[in-house]
Amino acid sequence: MKKVFLGLMMLACSTSMFAQWGRPVDYSAGPGLKDAYKDYFTIGVAVNKANVSDPAQIEIIKKQFNSVTAENAWKPGEIHPKEGVWNFGLADSIANFCRENGIKMRGHCLCWHSQFADWMFTDKKGKPVKKEVFYQRLREHIHTVVNRYKDVVYAWDVVNEAMADDGRPFEFVDGKMVPASPYRQSRHFKLCGDEFIAKAFEFAREADPTGVLIYNDYSCVDNGKRERIYTMVKKMKEAGVPIDGIGMQGHYNIYFPEENQLEKAIERFSEIVNTIHITELDLRTNTESGGQLMFSRGEAKPQAPYIATLQEDQYARLFKIFRKHKDVIKNVTFWNLSDKDSWLGTNNHPLPFDENFKAKRSLQIIRDFNAKLDNYTPKEDFVPNPMNQPGQEYPMVNSEGYARFRVVAPDAKSVIVSLGLGGRGGTVLRKDKDGVWTGTTEGPMDPGFHYYHLTIDGGVFNDPGTHNYFGSCRWESGIEIPAPDQDFYAYRKDINHGNIQQVTFWSESTGKMQTANVYLPYGYGKLVKGKQERYPVLYLQHGWGENETSWPVQGKAGLIMDNLIADGKIKPFIVVMAYGLTNDFKFGTIGKFTAEEFEKVLIDELIPVIDKQFLTKADKWNRAMAGLSMGGMETKLITLRRPEVFGYWGLLSGGTYMPEEIKDPKAVKYIFVGCGDKENPDGINKSVEALKAAGFNAEGLVSEGTAHEFLTWRRCLYTMAQKLFK
Ligand code: XIL
Repeated sequence: MKKVFLGLMMLACSTSMFAQWGRPVDYSAGPGLKDAYKDYFTIGVAVNKANVSDPAQIEIIKKQFNSVTAENAWKPGEIHPKEGVWNFGLADSIANFCRENGIKMRGHCLCWHSQFADWMFTDKKGKPVKKEVFYQRLREHIHTVVNRYKDVVYAWDVVNEAMADDGRPFEFVDGKMVPASPYRQSRHFKLCGDEFIAKAFEFAREADPTGVLIYNDYSCVDNGKRERIYTMVKKMKEAGVPIDGIGMQGHYNIYFPEENQLEKAIERFSEIVNTIHITELDLRTNTESGGQLMFSRGEAKPQAPYIATLQEDQYARLFKIFRKHKDVIKNVTFWNLSDKDSWLGTNNHPLPFDENFKAKRSLQIIRDFNAKLDNYTPKEDFVPNPMNQPGQEYPMVNSEGYARFRVVAPDAKSVIVSLGLGGRGGTVLRKDKDGVWTGTTEGPMDPGFHYYHLTIDGGVFNDPGTHNYFGSCRWESGIEIPAPDQDFYAYRKDINHGNIQQVTFWSESTGKMQTANVYLPYGYGKLVKGKQERYPVLYLQHGWGENETSWPVQGKAGLIMDNLIADGKIKPFIVVMAYGLTNDFKFGTIGKFTAEEFEKVLIDELIPVIDKQFLTKADKWNRAMAGLSMGGMETKLITLRRPEVFGYWGLLSGGTYMPEEIKDPKAVKYIFVGCGDKENPDGINKSVEALKAAGFNAEGLVSEGTAHEFLTWRRCLYTMAQKLFK
C-alpha cells in the first residue's frame, strides 16, 4: 500500500501535475499472452456466442489468444440433440469467427457422459440399444462433426471424463458394495465397458488422420485419478488406440494444487504421451476444485485484495511449472474469457479478466514472467537479517538480495508477506507439514531498507522476527538488503560518533506538543580555545506515513553524518528531524496540499526553539531545508515562500525546482534534487540542466538500482551534505 501510495506521490511530485493521482492501471497494456508465450505453447480460451459477437470481446480474444474452444456449442447434446437433428448455427458461428481470424480450435468434445446425445442409447420406443447400434450412431456423430470443422481444428477432446474420482474406494452396484471401478459408471461404460473409449478414438482418427486426439479429464493432479488415467491411456495405446495426448482440465483454486503435485502428474503423463494440453484452466477463490457440475458460486463480494494476491501467485506458480514442461505442454486454455462468463459464476472471480472484461493483475503476472528466474535457484547463503530482533533467525537475506520468511501460524489459511518483486502484491508463503509458513521472494530485492508486513487471512500483522519502523502511519516491520555501497552508512568502530536527542516543544499553532530528533556531531559543546563552537543546521524532513524517527532510524542519518565528518568530507553541522505533520493529510486531497500548517510549526515554533537550546549559527546562510517524498513537497513549498529563512534547498524523491519558480536567483546558494533510477530520473536531469543554464548552483543524483525507498534517500543525504554550508 505504502509503495503504491508513494509511487503515485512521486509521479505527482515530479511531473508537478496531479493527473496521475489514482489513475487505474491497464494490465492489458503490453503484448498479448499468445505473444508472450510464443516460445512455449499456444494460449487458448473457451468462448460463448457473446464473446465472438461483441467487438470489445473480440478484440480481447484476438490480442490474447491463438487457440479457441467452443464452451458448449459443439457438445453432442447441443449440436446433435436428436437423431437426425443438427444445431449447427451457433457451432458454425464460432468456427467461422476462428476461420476469419486465423485462429485454430480445440474441438470439444466428441464423447462425454454429460451434455451428451443420450438418444444414442435408446431406440424409438425408448428401449436400450445394443452397443453396436450405439457405436454406429457415435461414429456417424463423430464423422459429421469432425468433417465439418477439421479444417479449423488442430486437436480434439475425443473422450471426456471417463475415469472415476478419488475418494470412493467402494461403490454400490446392483445393491451390493464392491470395490470401486477405475471407470466412471456412465451409460457409455455400462453399455460398452471401456471399449467405447477405444471406439471413439478410432472413429475420430478415421475422420481426421492428422488432428491431435486427446483424452481429457479433471483432477488429474489427484494421486488416485492420475494413476487411473495413466493406466487407462497406457493400456489403450499399447492396444493401438490412437490417443495422442492427455488434456488436464485445470479447474483448480487459489490454494491448490501444490506445484509438486501438478508436476507429478505432468511427469507421469509424459511417460506415455508427448502432448499435454491444459484444457480448462480457472482458479476458484474457494477451496473447491475439479470438473463436477456441483459447486458453490462463491459469495457475492468484490474480490478482496489479499485473495487477488493469492490468485495471482497461484497463476504465477502454475505457469512457471507449465513453462518448465514446455516440451510436452503444447497448449494452455482458460475456461472462459472473463469472470462474467465463467461457468463457476462471477463471484468465484476465477479468470484473468474481470466481470467487466477488464484485465486483472493476474494477466500481467502471467504475461510478464522473467524467463531468467524460471530456472534459477537462489544461493543458499541466507543469514539472519541485520534488523532482526535479538535471537531471531528469520527473516533471512542471501548474498543476492533474496529474502526468506518464516511465520508460525498453524491454523491460518494464507500468509502473504507484502515484500516481493515489484507489482506482484508480495510473496505468498506456503505451509509445511508442521504448520510453519515459509517462502522466498521470487527474485532479488532492491538493495537497502524496505518496510513490510504480513497479511494473515486478510488481517495485517507485523513480523515478530524483526524490529518495527514508523512508516504507513504505523510501526511496520523492516528488512535491510545489503547494498554494494553500504559502508557510507555503516557503524564504524574506528571513529567518534555524535548523538541524537529528542526535543519536545509546545506548538501553539497545532495546540499540541511536537517532537523533533536532533543530531549533534561529536565534539558538540566542547570548549575550543575557551569558546563553544556554533554549527549550521539542516532541517531534514521525512515522507508521508513517517515521523521524526524515520530519518534517524531507517534513514541512518546519524551514521551518515558521523562517517562524513570522520572522513573529513564535511565540517560538522546539526541535523534537525522533526515530525512534518504529513500524516494528517487526507488521502485524495494532495492537489490541495499547501504545507502551511507545517510552515508555521517549523518557522515560528521549531526554529526558535532550536536556536535557543542549541549552539546554532542562526541565520539563513547557515540553515538548509531538505525532505524526502512528501517532505520534499513541504520543502519546495516552504523554501519558495520563505527564501529568507533557508539558504540551501534539497528535494529527495520529492519533486524538482525549475528556474522560473525561483523569484530571486540570489536567494539560494545550492539546490539538490535526487531520486532513484526506478522513479523519474528524467525529471531530475531536466531540472538540474535548466537550473544550471539559468546560473544556479544545482546538483542532481539518480540513485542506481533503487526506487522510492530509503537507500535512495541515504545516498541523497550523503551527496547533498557534502555541498551544504560551503
Ligand atoms: C461446462 C460449461 O462451461 C458450462 O456452461 C456447462 O453448463 C457445463 O459444462 N468440464 C468440461 C467442460 O469438460 O465441458 C465443462 O463446461 C466444465 C467441466
